[in-house]
Amino acid sequence: MSHISVLLNETIDALLAGRTEGIYIDATFGRGGHTQALLKRLSDNSRVIAFDKDPQAQAVGAVMAAQDSRLMMVHASFADLAEQLDQLNLGLVDGVMADLGISSPQIDQAERGFSFMNDGPLDMRMDNSQGATASQWLQDIEEEDLANILFQYGEERYSRRIAKAIKRAGIIETTGMLAQIVKEAHPKWEKHKHPATRSFQAIRIALNRELDDLVAFLPQAVQVLKPQGRLAVISFHSLEDRVVKHFIQNQSTLPEQGWLPQPEPDPRTLKKIARIAPGDQEVNDNYRSRSAWLRVAERLEHA
Ligand SMILES: C[S@@+](CC[C@H](N)C(=O)[O-])C[C@H]1O[C@@H](n2cnc3c(N)ncnc32)[C@H](O)[C@@H]1O
Repeated sequence: MSHISVLLNETIDALLAGRTEGIYIDATFGRGGHTQALLKRLSDNSRVIAFDKDPQAQAVGAVMAAQDSRLMMVHASFADLAEQLDQLNLGLVDGVMADLGISSPQIDQAERGFSFMNDGPLDMRMDNSQGATASQWLQDIEEEDLANILFQYGEERYSRRIAKAIKRAGIIETTGMLAQIVKEAHPKWEKHKHPATRSFQAIRIALNRELDDLVAFLPQAVQVLKPQGRLAVISFHSLEDRVVKHFIQNQSTLPEQGWLPQPEPDPRTLKKIARIAPGDQEVNDNYRSRSAWLRVAERLEHA
């Protein structure tokens, strides 16, 4: 039920870069593993502003914030980072981190409807206080759009067959029902992988607009950083990591100019700092960390 934080020390070390004071953003509070590690290393007059769109995570954070006045919890999507910070009137910040995806409590609680292992209502919303559940969403979506989503976000080769089976099934009320429909429609099961793994991932990403939120978040994270402030992002699958990688690449490289002089002023905003994967020990201790990548960048002085 509890959440084991991934790349904990690596992320905090990279984010702080030797500092012990300042204002830091944890864009994905979860169960507060990274937030707590950050607070431990920060001075009394520092601040951590933590975001999560999950009401349960928000409630855990509120309890923590009541015990430590340096912490403030915001129940919002990190896609609205700049606007939320603007309202708090804190000025620029020293570091922004995000640990993407879902937390272990979200997967483990059957009633959240993320898991094909624990049967529960087909919900899958990170913010279950608003919006359509996965069950309603599957009723409303066209078969072709669903097939495209399964292909793009789940890299599911049999996306068309599975989309057809899902749409034929009518109302799908539980995760168990969806898992069974996908399993029956799937002609080729991969070793060590439930046949519904890819479809569940795809539906979750689309329903929660995970990649859209990430694309909206990254430039705002840079915008709210002080010069030399750090951005640290942990991703868990290649689609997310590709977005982070390309963003940092674009922001840290001068455009191809051929023989032309370089543009003035320098359009770059970031300097690449690191790309870190968990070591063997962490992967052994926490299977969920096996696909994680931490990417770190620093805001340039002039930007
Ligand atoms: C992997 S968990 C974070 C775990 C946390 N670092 C810890 O150590 O406890 C990801 C969290 O991000 C939240 N989340 C995902 N997308 C979000 C978004 N767009 N805005 C705010 N929170 C989001 C999820 O609800 C989940 O609680």
